[in-house]
Amino acid sequence: MHSYTLEQARAYESKYAAFISPQERPAYHLTPMVGWMNDPNGFCFYQGQYHLFYQYHPYSNQWGPMHWGHAVSSDLLHWTYLPAALAPDSPADRSGCFSGSAVTLPDGRHLLMYTGVLRTKGPDGLDVDIQNQCLAFGDGRNYEKYSKNPVIDGSTLPAEFSRADFRDPKLWVEPDGSLRCVVANRTSDGSGAILLFSSPDGTAWKLESILDRSYNEYGRMWECPDFFPLDGKYILMVNPQDMSSLGTEFHNGNNTACIVGSYDAQACRFSRESISAVDHGLDFYAAQTTLAPDGRRIMVAWMQNWDALGGQPTDQKWFGQMTLPRELHLKDGRLIQTPVREIEALWGRKVSYSGVRIHEETTLQGVYGRTIDLTVNIRPQGEDSYSLFRIKFALGSQHYTSISYRPQGSEVHLNRDHSGYNRDYNHRRKCQVRNQDGCVKLRILLDRFSAEIFVNDGEQVLSSVLYTPLTADGISFVADGNAIIDVEKYEILL
Ligand code: FRU
Repeated sequence: MHSYTLEQARAYESKYAAFISPQERPAYHLTPMVGWMNDPNGFCFYQGQYHLFYQYHPYSNQWGPMHWGHAVSSDLLHWTYLPAALAPDSPADRSGCFSGSAVTLPDGRHLLMYTGVLRTKGPDGLDVDIQNQCLAFGDGRNYEKYSKNPVIDGSTLPAEFSRADFRDPKLWVEPDGSLRCVVANRTSDGSGAILLFSSPDGTAWKLESILDRSYNEYGRMWECPDFFPLDGKYILMVNPQDMSSLGTEFHNGNNTACIVGSYDAQACRFSRESISAVDHGLDFYAAQTTLAPDGRRIMVAWMQNWDALGGQPTDQKWFGQMTLPRELHLKDGRLIQTPVREIEALWGRKVSYSGVRIHEETTLQGVYGRTIDLTVNIRPQGEDSYSLFRIKFALGSQHYTSISYRPQGSEVHLNRDHSGYNRDYNHRRKCQVRNQDGCVKLRILLDRFSAEIFVNDGEQVLSSVLYTPLTADGISFVADGNAIIDVEKYEILL
């Protein structure tokens, strides 16, 4: 069907994308072609390439009527933009095409499932949303919306479930070719629940079960669910909104939670065994995973915090970026995340040091940069060993961001107070890491406007956006007593 709204978006993005030079964007993280980006959508491998769609408002740097932007990559690091895939242009989604996912159908077609939003005025004059699940079939570039959308209509749900908060379907294909999806909902107790549906072909859907629910324990609405097997267990990933902090694991506001459990596929029942935060940094939300052709489970998320919009420099021409795609594993019941190994193919010049003693602020020749992969192993030394070790990066005369380790209590602290933000948001986070007698390993991936810090080979990750001017590219090491470090730094070259 011809869509003027989509054509207009495609014409707009192809005209204005050229006004953003590659140097104004991160080098290896995906940003919107133009305008605004939020959640990753439809992350998949289709016809020989990774496809990553995203929540997209091309016309401004702010959230607006949601389209789906689209990019492809063969290595998850070099991205090529394709024309916008979906626009809010049909009777089932006229107020927005919200988040969703993609699978390859047994006949080779690409199927997108997304939330169609209809916004109306309630009797009190306030906006009321109706959210339903819709389909679009395509070839990896152009998508035709299903004429009988929506295929899962909130009004068919039992009364306990919301029609206004019913979104973000994550699809998968079962070995027999039938389909399943999980969809987020808010139940009448005001908190999140994840519903599991089944379908023989993608068009007719049946509610099978409630996979898990919050009972007001973990925030309010749960958004953007994902559900997949990993190393002998099942993972339900959810994004609880409006949480109150819980210890050092979950912070106030929106979080991403990894629920580990077991799944009885016959009975469609999931049993929760543990729940933990996926990322302990300042900017991480709405994670989505896919399976790589070689069997790796790969996750990407929106590297942004909904509560900290608008702190970017006024001349930044785009808004929103994805995290680096990460490989997932489970070890001792905990999620382990590592940067996709494809990054190693982009390693340029290496600078390394071993056994360097740090006892005051120190810089090391060749260790600097804003597009780098830096690993630092820190060890205590002697009687006057350190109680605080800090790495400052994106360091200039007025700026730095830092990651610190305190062996006592085994805590890692991220601090972005001096990173170019012009808003008084929270710029600090901390997390508990495994106690290894004063030793810690930090791998820091910098890409101009972000830092992702993998602690102890991915046992914890802290992700954060930064707006520090690019001229601030120094790195220094600070200890309040003796520490010994090994350093390995690679430039990342695209
Ligand atoms: C999460 C979210 C989703 C929704 C989308 C709208 O960030 O609120 O639940 O589909 O953003 O853009």
